[in-house]
Amino acid sequence: MSKQVILTGIRANNDLTIGNYFGAIMPTIDMAATRADEFQVNLFVPDLHSFTTPIDHTKLHDQIWHNIRVFAAAGLPLDKPDIHIYRQSYIPAHSEMTWILDCFTGMGEMARMTQFKDKSGAATSDDEQSSSQDRVSVGLFNYPVLMAADILLYGATYVPVGDDQSQHLEFTRDIAERLNAKFGELFTVPKPVQEQHAFFGKDQGLRIKDLQDPTKKMSKSDDTGNGVIFLGDTPETAAKKIMSATTDSVGKVAYDPDKQPGVANLLQILALFSHRDLQEVIGEWEGKTMYGDLKKAVADACSQFLTTFQAKLASVDDNLLQAKLEASEAAMREQAGRTLLTVQQAVGLRPKGQ
Ligand code: ADP
Ligand code: TRP
Repeated sequence: MSKQVILTGIRANNDLTIGNYFGAIMPTIDMAATRADEFQVNLFVPDLHSFTTPIDHTKLHDQIWHNIRVFAAAGLPLDKPDIHIYRQSYIPAHSEMTWILDCFTGMGEMARMTQFKDKSGAATSDDEQSSSQDRVSVGLFNYPVLMAADILLYGATYVPVGDDQSQHLEFTRDIAERLNAKFGELFTVPKPVQEQHAFFGKDQGLRIKDLQDPTKKMSKSDDTGNGVIFLGDTPETAAKKIMSATTDSVGKVAYDPDKQPGVANLLQILALFSHRDLQEVIGEWEGKTMYGDLKKAVADACSQFLTTFQAKLASVDDNLLQAKLEASEAAMREQAGRTLLTVQQAVGLRPKGQ
Protein backbone atom coordinates (compact mmCIF):
# COMPACT_ATOMS: atom_id res chain seq x y z
CA MET A 1 0.00 0.00 0.00
CA SER A 2 1.27 3.47 -0.76
CA LYS A 3 2.19 5.78 2.09
CA GLN A 4 -0.18 8.40 3.49
CA VAL A 5 0.68 11.91 2.37
CA ILE A 6 1.51 14.95 4.52
CA LEU A 7 1.37 18.12 2.44
CA THR A 8 2.02 21.77 3.00
CA GLY A 9 2.52 24.88 0.88
CA ILE A 10 4.12 28.18 1.86
CA ARG A 11 3.52 31.20 -0.34
CA ALA A 12 6.42 33.06 -1.89
CA ASN A 13 5.01 36.54 -2.37
CA ASN A 14 7.58 38.17 -0.10
CA ASP A 15 10.65 37.38 1.98
CA LEU A 16 9.71 35.00 4.78
CA THR A 17 9.46 36.15 8.39
CA ILE A 18 10.56 34.55 11.64
CA GLY A 19 6.82 33.83 12.12
CA ASN A 20 6.80 31.74 8.94
CA TYR A 21 10.07 30.13 10.01
CA PHE A 22 9.05 29.03 13.51
CA GLY A 23 5.35 28.61 12.77
CA ALA A 24 5.50 26.78 9.45
CA ILE A 25 8.94 25.95 8.05
CA MET A 26 10.56 24.40 11.12
CA PRO A 27 7.52 22.30 12.13
CA THR A 28 7.32 21.06 8.53
CA ILE A 29 11.00 20.23 8.36
CA ASP A 30 11.00 18.52 11.75
CA MET A 31 8.04 16.53 10.60
CA ALA A 32 9.71 15.67 7.29
CA ALA A 33 12.85 14.56 9.08
CA THR A 34 11.05 12.43 11.64
CA ARG A 35 8.15 11.03 9.62
CA ALA A 36 9.56 10.53 6.11
CA ASP A 37 9.92 6.80 6.68
CA GLU A 38 6.23 6.38 7.47
CA PHE A 39 4.75 9.09 5.24
CA GLN A 40 5.24 10.77 1.88
CA VAL A 41 5.97 14.42 2.61
CA ASN A 42 5.04 17.05 0.00
CA LEU A 43 6.38 20.52 0.54
CA PHE A 44 5.64 22.98 -2.23
CA VAL A 45 5.67 26.60 -3.24
CA PRO A 46 2.16 27.59 -4.31
CA ASP A 47 3.50 29.99 -6.92
CA LEU A 48 0.15 30.33 -8.69
CA HIS A 49 -1.22 31.73 -5.43
CA SER A 50 1.37 34.52 -5.39
CA PHE A 51 -0.59 37.15 -7.28
CA THR A 52 -4.15 36.79 -6.09
CA THR A 53 -3.41 40.28 -4.80
CA PRO A 54 -1.11 42.66 -6.76
CA ILE A 55 2.66 42.08 -6.50
CA ASP A 56 5.83 43.21 -8.25
CA HIS A 57 6.13 40.57 -10.96
CA THR A 58 9.73 41.42 -11.76
CA LYS A 59 10.66 39.98 -8.35
CA LEU A 60 8.50 36.87 -8.25
CA HIS A 61 10.81 34.41 -9.94
CA ASP A 62 13.76 35.27 -7.69
CA GLN A 63 11.51 35.23 -4.65
CA ILE A 64 10.31 31.70 -5.39
CA TRP A 65 13.85 30.43 -5.83
CA HIS A 66 14.95 32.24 -2.67
CA ASN A 67 12.19 30.64 -0.61
CA ILE A 68 13.10 27.20 -1.88
CA ARG A 69 16.68 27.84 -0.80
CA VAL A 70 15.31 28.81 2.63
CA PHE A 71 13.85 25.32 3.01
CA ALA A 72 17.22 23.79 2.19
CA ALA A 73 19.03 26.14 4.58
CA ALA A 74 16.53 25.34 7.33
CA GLY A 75 17.51 21.69 7.03
CA LEU A 76 15.05 19.97 4.72
CA PRO A 77 16.60 16.54 4.05
CA LEU A 78 17.10 16.49 0.28
CA ASP A 79 18.31 12.93 0.08
CA LYS A 80 15.13 11.15 1.16
CA PRO A 81 13.11 9.87 -1.79
CA ASP A 82 9.75 10.30 -0.07
CA ILE A 83 10.26 13.98 0.65
CA HIS A 84 9.22 16.04 -2.35
CA ILE A 85 9.79 19.72 -2.88
CA TYR A 86 8.20 21.36 -5.89
CA ARG A 87 6.67 24.42 -7.53
CA GLN A 88 2.95 24.25 -8.13
CA SER A 89 3.03 25.85 -11.60
CA TYR A 90 5.42 23.15 -12.86
CA ILE A 91 2.62 20.62 -12.45
CA PRO A 92 -0.15 21.70 -14.83
CA ALA A 93 -2.66 19.31 -13.23
CA HIS A 94 -3.14 21.89 -10.42
CA SER A 95 -4.67 24.38 -12.85
CA GLU A 96 -6.64 21.75 -14.73
CA MET A 97 -8.09 20.24 -11.58
CA THR A 98 -9.00 23.70 -10.30
CA TRP A 99 -11.21 24.34 -13.31
CA ILE A 100 -13.10 21.11 -12.81
CA LEU A 101 -13.55 21.75 -9.07
CA ASP A 102 -14.62 25.35 -9.84
CA CYS A 103 -17.62 24.01 -11.69
CA PHE A 104 -18.81 22.18 -8.56
CA THR A 105 -18.21 25.10 -6.20
CA GLY A 106 -20.88 27.61 -5.20
CA MET A 107 -20.29 31.36 -5.46
CA GLY A 108 -21.75 31.70 -1.97
CA GLU A 109 -19.28 29.17 -0.58
CA MET A 110 -16.34 31.24 -1.76
CA ALA A 111 -17.89 34.56 -0.77
CA ARG A 112 -18.20 33.30 2.81
CA MET A 113 -14.48 32.62 3.22
CA THR A 114 -13.25 35.00 5.90
CA GLN A 115 -9.85 35.42 4.30
CA PHE A 116 -11.50 36.53 1.07
CA LYS A 117 -13.61 39.01 3.00
CA ASP A 118 -10.56 40.33 4.85
CA LYS A 119 -8.30 40.63 1.84
CA SER A 120 -10.91 42.02 -0.53
CA GLY A 121 -12.31 44.49 1.99
CA ALA A 122 -15.69 43.09 0.99
CA ALA A 123 -17.27 44.33 4.18
CA THR A 124 -17.12 47.98 3.08
CA SER A 125 -20.09 50.23 2.28
CA ASP A 126 -22.17 49.54 -0.85
CA ASP A 127 -20.66 52.40 -2.88
CA GLU A 128 -17.12 51.50 -2.03
CA GLN A 129 -17.94 47.90 -2.67
CA SER A 130 -18.95 48.28 -6.28
CA SER A 131 -15.72 50.11 -7.18
CA SER A 132 -13.47 47.91 -5.07
CA GLN A 133 -15.14 44.76 -6.41
CA ASP A 134 -13.65 45.55 -9.80
CA ARG A 135 -10.18 45.62 -8.33
CA VAL A 136 -10.61 42.37 -6.41
CA SER A 137 -9.47 39.54 -8.67
CA VAL A 138 -11.40 36.40 -9.44
CA GLY A 139 -8.16 34.65 -8.45
CA LEU A 140 -8.51 35.91 -4.88
CA PHE A 141 -12.11 34.80 -4.89
CA ASN A 142 -11.55 31.20 -5.94
CA TYR A 143 -8.10 30.55 -4.60
CA PRO A 144 -9.45 28.11 -1.99
CA VAL A 145 -10.43 25.92 -4.96
CA LEU A 146 -6.84 25.92 -6.19
CA MET A 147 -5.79 25.06 -2.65
CA ALA A 148 -8.25 22.16 -2.64
CA ALA A 149 -6.73 20.94 -5.92
CA ASP A 150 -3.23 21.19 -4.36
CA ILE A 151 -4.31 18.86 -1.59
CA LEU A 152 -6.64 16.44 -3.41
CA LEU A 153 -4.31 15.72 -6.35
CA TYR A 154 -1.96 13.88 -3.99
CA GLY A 155 -4.58 12.34 -1.73
CA ALA A 156 -3.07 14.17 1.26
CA THR A 157 -4.53 13.25 4.64
CA TYR A 158 -2.48 15.56 6.84
CA VAL A 159 -2.16 19.24 5.99
CA PRO A 160 -0.60 21.42 8.69
CA VAL A 161 -2.17 24.86 8.37
CA GLY A 162 -2.61 27.78 10.71
CA ASP A 163 -6.00 28.97 11.91
CA ASP A 164 -6.27 31.39 9.00
CA GLN A 165 -6.30 28.42 6.62
CA SER A 166 -8.60 26.02 8.47
CA GLN A 167 -11.69 27.27 6.65
CA HIS A 168 -9.98 26.44 3.35
CA LEU A 169 -9.19 22.98 4.62
CA GLU A 170 -12.82 22.48 5.62
CA PHE A 171 -13.82 23.54 2.12
CA THR A 172 -11.38 20.98 0.68
CA ARG A 173 -13.11 18.28 2.70
CA ASP A 174 -16.54 19.50 1.55
CA ILE A 175 -15.70 19.52 -2.14
CA ALA A 176 -14.00 16.11 -1.91
CA GLU A 177 -17.04 14.62 -0.20
CA ARG A 178 -19.37 16.30 -2.70
CA LEU A 179 -17.59 14.80 -5.69
CA ASN A 180 -17.20 11.43 -4.00
CA ALA A 181 -20.96 11.38 -3.38
CA LYS A 182 -21.67 12.24 -7.01
CA PHE A 183 -19.05 10.17 -8.82
CA GLY A 184 -17.89 7.43 -6.43
CA GLU A 185 -14.67 7.35 -4.43
CA LEU A 186 -12.53 9.81 -6.37
CA PHE A 187 -10.68 11.56 -3.57
CA THR A 188 -9.04 10.85 -0.25
CA VAL A 189 -10.69 13.27 2.18
CA PRO A 190 -8.14 15.08 4.38
CA LYS A 191 -8.59 14.73 8.15
CA PRO A 192 -10.72 17.32 9.95
CA VAL A 193 -8.98 20.30 11.52
CA GLN A 194 -9.10 18.92 15.11
CA GLU A 195 -7.39 15.72 14.02
CA GLN A 196 -4.76 17.75 12.19
CA HIS A 197 -4.04 19.62 15.40
CA ALA A 198 -3.82 16.41 17.38
CA PHE A 199 -1.44 14.95 14.80
CA PHE A 200 0.89 17.94 14.45
CA GLY A 201 0.90 19.01 18.09
CA LYS A 202 1.49 22.32 19.76
CA ASP A 203 3.27 24.34 17.07
CA GLN A 204 0.05 24.57 15.08
CA GLY A 205 -1.13 27.28 17.45
CA LEU A 206 2.12 29.26 17.58
CA ARG A 207 1.65 32.88 16.57
CA ILE A 208 4.49 35.36 16.70
CA LYS A 209 3.08 38.88 16.94
CA ASP A 210 3.97 42.06 15.14
CA LEU A 211 6.58 44.01 17.13
CA GLN A 212 4.82 47.34 16.57
CA ASP A 213 1.29 46.07 17.09
CA PRO A 214 1.49 42.93 19.24
CA THR A 215 -2.26 42.39 19.02
CA LYS A 216 -1.88 41.20 15.41
CA LYS A 217 0.29 38.44 13.98
CA MET A 218 3.63 39.18 12.40
CA SER A 219 2.99 38.92 8.67
CA LYS A 220 5.20 39.01 5.58
CA SER A 221 2.39 40.89 3.85
CA ASP A 222 2.63 43.80 6.28
CA ASP A 223 3.05 47.06 4.36
CA THR A 224 5.70 48.81 6.46
CA GLY A 225 7.68 45.83 7.74
CA ASN A 226 8.66 47.84 10.85
CA GLY A 227 7.23 45.27 13.23
CA VAL A 228 8.34 42.29 11.14
CA ILE A 229 11.64 40.44 11.22
CA PHE A 230 12.42 38.99 7.81
CA LEU A 231 14.86 36.12 7.43
CA GLY A 232 16.84 38.40 5.09
CA ASP A 233 17.09 41.34 7.54
CA THR A 234 20.60 42.26 8.61
CA PRO A 235 21.16 41.61 12.34
CA GLU A 236 21.45 45.41 12.79
CA THR A 237 18.09 46.13 11.14
CA ALA A 238 16.44 43.36 13.14
CA ALA A 239 17.98 44.66 16.38
CA LYS A 240 16.60 48.14 15.69
CA LYS A 241 13.12 46.74 15.13
CA ILE A 242 13.35 44.78 18.39
CA MET A 243 14.67 47.73 20.41
CA SER A 244 11.71 49.84 19.25
CA ALA A 245 9.11 47.11 19.88
CA THR A 246 5.91 48.21 21.56
CA THR A 247 5.64 47.06 25.19
CA ASP A 248 3.29 48.44 27.89
CA SER A 249 3.13 50.71 30.90
CA VAL A 250 2.89 47.94 33.51
CA GLY A 251 6.64 48.14 34.04
CA LYS A 252 7.14 44.54 35.15
CA VAL A 253 7.86 41.49 33.03
CA ALA A 254 5.12 38.84 33.12
CA TYR A 255 3.88 36.38 30.53
CA ASP A 256 0.35 37.62 29.96
CA PRO A 257 -0.54 37.64 26.25
CA ASP A 258 -3.82 39.48 26.92
CA LYS A 259 -2.65 42.26 29.21
CA GLN A 260 1.01 42.48 28.15
CA PRO A 261 1.06 41.20 24.56
CA GLY A 262 4.29 42.98 23.60
CA VAL A 263 6.30 41.56 26.48
CA ALA A 264 4.76 38.09 26.08
CA ASN A 265 5.77 38.18 22.42
CA LEU A 266 9.36 39.12 23.27
CA LEU A 267 9.58 36.24 25.75
CA GLN A 268 8.19 33.86 23.15
CA ILE A 269 10.64 35.03 20.49
CA LEU A 270 13.55 34.80 22.93
CA ALA A 271 12.65 31.20 23.74
CA LEU A 272 12.51 30.30 20.05
CA PHE A 273 15.77 32.01 19.13
CA SER A 274 17.65 30.47 22.02
CA HIS A 275 16.11 26.99 21.60
CA ARG A 276 14.82 27.05 25.14
CA ASP A 277 11.54 26.13 26.72
CA LEU A 278 9.18 29.12 27.05
CA GLN A 279 8.61 28.35 30.74
CA GLU A 280 12.33 28.47 31.43
CA VAL A 281 12.64 31.87 29.74
CA ILE A 282 9.62 33.20 31.65
CA GLY A 283 11.17 31.97 34.90
CA GLU A 284 14.35 33.85 34.12
CA TRP A 285 12.68 37.19 33.31
CA GLU A 286 9.51 37.31 35.40
CA GLY A 287 9.35 40.27 37.78
CA LYS A 288 12.22 42.18 36.16
CA THR A 289 11.51 45.84 35.52
CA MET A 290 13.94 46.83 32.78
CA TYR A 291 12.20 46.17 29.48
CA GLY A 292 15.31 47.49 27.71
CA ASP A 293 17.33 44.55 29.08
CA LEU A 294 14.79 42.07 27.77
CA LYS A 295 14.84 43.73 24.35
CA LYS A 296 18.63 43.66 24.32
CA ALA A 297 18.61 39.93 25.13
CA VAL A 298 16.11 39.29 22.32
CA ALA A 299 18.15 41.42 19.89
CA ASP A 300 21.35 39.49 20.73
CA ALA A 301 19.65 36.12 20.33
CA CYS A 302 18.10 37.31 17.08
CA SER A 303 21.43 38.49 15.76
CA GLN A 304 22.97 35.10 16.50
CA PHE A 305 20.06 33.32 14.84
CA LEU A 306 20.13 35.47 11.68
CA THR A 307 23.91 35.29 11.33
CA THR A 308 23.89 31.49 11.54
CA PHE A 309 20.87 31.14 9.27
CA GLN A 310 22.18 33.50 6.62
CA ALA A 311 25.52 31.68 6.54
CA LYS A 312 23.64 28.42 5.91
CA LEU A 313 21.61 30.11 3.20
CA ALA A 314 24.77 31.31 1.47
CA SER A 315 26.18 27.80 1.43
CA VAL A 316 23.17 26.03 -0.09
CA ASP A 317 24.24 23.90 -3.06
CA ASP A 318 22.05 25.25 -5.87
CA ASN A 319 22.86 22.42 -8.26
CA LEU A 320 21.82 19.80 -5.76
CA LEU A 321 18.65 21.72 -5.00
CA GLN A 322 17.80 22.15 -8.68
CA ALA A 323 18.24 18.40 -9.23
CA LYS A 324 15.97 17.63 -6.27
CA LEU A 325 13.30 20.05 -7.55
CA GLU A 326 13.34 18.52 -11.01
CA ALA A 327 13.15 14.97 -9.68
CA SER A 328 10.25 15.87 -7.36
CA GLU A 329 8.40 17.75 -10.09
CA ALA A 330 8.67 14.80 -12.47
CA ALA A 331 7.39 12.40 -9.80
CA MET A 332 4.58 14.77 -8.83
CA ARG A 333 3.48 15.30 -12.44
CA GLU A 334 2.98 11.56 -12.63
CA GLN A 335 1.14 11.26 -9.33
CA ALA A 336 -1.07 14.32 -9.91
CA GLY A 337 -1.68 13.24 -13.52
CA ARG A 338 -3.09 9.92 -12.32
CA THR A 339 -5.61 11.62 -10.02
CA LEU A 340 -6.54 14.11 -12.72
CA LEU A 341 -7.20 11.33 -15.22
CA THR A 342 -9.54 9.54 -12.79
CA VAL A 343 -11.47 12.77 -12.33
CA GLN A 344 -11.52 13.52 -16.06
CA GLN A 345 -12.93 10.03 -16.62
CA ALA A 346 -15.55 10.51 -13.90
CA VAL A 347 -16.83 13.80 -15.34
CA GLY A 348 -16.87 12.41 -18.88
CA LEU A 349 -13.86 14.17 -20.41
CA ARG A 350 -11.92 10.93 -20.99
CA PRO A 351 -13.07 7.42 -21.77
CA LYS A 352 -13.24 5.11 -18.77
CA GLY A 353 -10.66 2.35 -18.35
CA GLN A 354 -8.00 4.17 -20.37
P1 ADP B 1 1.99 35.70 6.20
O1 ADP B 1 0.91 36.31 7.04
O2 ADP B 1 3.33 35.91 6.76
O3 ADP B 1 1.84 36.10 4.74
P2 ADP B 1 0.88 33.16 5.50
O4 ADP B 1 -0.53 33.50 5.83
O5 ADP B 1 1.28 33.08 4.05
O6 ADP B 1 1.84 34.14 6.27
O7 ADP B 1 1.24 31.80 6.20
C1 ADP B 1 2.32 30.95 5.83
C2 ADP B 1 2.56 29.97 6.95
O8 ADP B 1 3.28 30.63 8.03
C3 ADP B 1 1.29 29.40 7.56
O9 ADP B 1 1.51 28.05 7.87
C4 ADP B 1 1.11 30.21 8.82
O10 ADP B 1 0.43 29.49 9.82
C5 ADP B 1 2.55 30.51 9.24
N1 ADP B 1 2.64 31.80 9.92
C6 ADP B 1 2.42 33.01 9.33
N2 ADP B 1 2.61 34.00 10.21
C7 ADP B 1 2.94 33.43 11.39
C8 ADP B 1 3.26 33.94 12.69
N3 ADP B 1 3.25 35.24 12.93
N4 ADP B 1 3.56 33.07 13.66
C9 ADP B 1 3.56 31.74 13.42
N5 ADP B 1 3.27 31.19 12.23
C10 ADP B 1 2.97 32.01 11.21
N1 TRP C 1 -3.17 29.12 1.12
C1 TRP C 1 -1.99 28.88 1.90
C2 TRP C 1 -1.53 30.21 2.53
O1 TRP C 1 -1.87 31.26 2.05
C3 TRP C 1 -0.89 28.30 1.08
C4 TRP C 1 -1.32 27.04 0.42
C5 TRP C 1 -1.68 26.91 -0.88
C6 TRP C 1 -1.45 25.78 1.03
N2 TRP C 1 -2.03 25.62 -1.12
C7 TRP C 1 -1.92 24.89 0.00
C8 TRP C 1 -1.25 25.30 2.32
C9 TRP C 1 -2.18 23.56 0.26
C10 TRP C 1 -1.51 23.96 2.57
C11 TRP C 1 -1.98 23.10 1.55
O2 TRP C 1 -0.79 30.14 3.51
